[in-house]
Amino acid sequence: MNRRVKSPQRPVTSSGRNQVGGTSGSRAGAQNELCVRDSKRRSNLAQTIDITLKVNGHEHSLTLDPRTTLLDALREHLALTGSKKGCDHGQCGACTVLVDGTRINACLTLAAMHDGDAITTIEATGDARLAALQTAFVEHDGFQCGYCTPGQICSALGMLNELDAGMPSHVTADIQGAGMALTDEEIRERMSGNICRCAAYPNIVRAIAQVQERAS
Ligand code: FES
Ligand code: FES
Repeated sequence: MNRRVKSPQRPVTSSGRNQVGGTSGSRAGAQNELCVRDSKRRSNLAQTIDITLKVNGHEHSLTLDPRTTLLDALREHLALTGSKKGCDHGQCGACTVLVDGTRINACLTLAAMHDGDAITTIEATGDARLAALQTAFVEHDGFQCGYCTPGQICSALGMLNELDAGMPSHVTADIQGAGMALTDEEIRERMSGNICRCAAYPNIVRAIAQVQERAS
């Protein structure tokens, strides 16, 4: 028997327009809107800023995405890979550098915030105390894998600067007293933001203590 197969009827709207066509029309509109939004987003992403960083005594002019962290500016744009990216969340201290003599986590700050600032990294030369710390870490075996070491050494440098400036720590017994002794407890507290997964802590403490003893 010869049967005719009926084509399915397309729904018709009250205005008589074919609903399928209407849906694809609105879908095309939505797609257009998405395209416009996407191109706006991409043009926003294309914005850059010009900054100058003075790193280890050398000026560098950089054109960066404004969202670039100081750590990424150093590592990815200046090829200074001594500063390490451990957690990228301010929890390990592997990225510690000094900005105008103060230690900070380079992963937690934007490069754009340091236009014109003087940055010191582990690659710096000509700083006697930094060199003494590097030597002491070697002499005392203050590392194993070495991943945390640049951050430990920069942090120790910043910590000794803080001690010079008379800044107390959480364990300083007498904050009014003249001169603060750099006890092992003080070193451990002041360096507590720098994590060593190899647990080289006893040797790190000895290395820092040696630098302070030889200087005094
Ligand atoms: S990488 Fe910056 S604190 Fe861990
Ligand atoms: S020496 Fe390996 S993480 Fe510190």
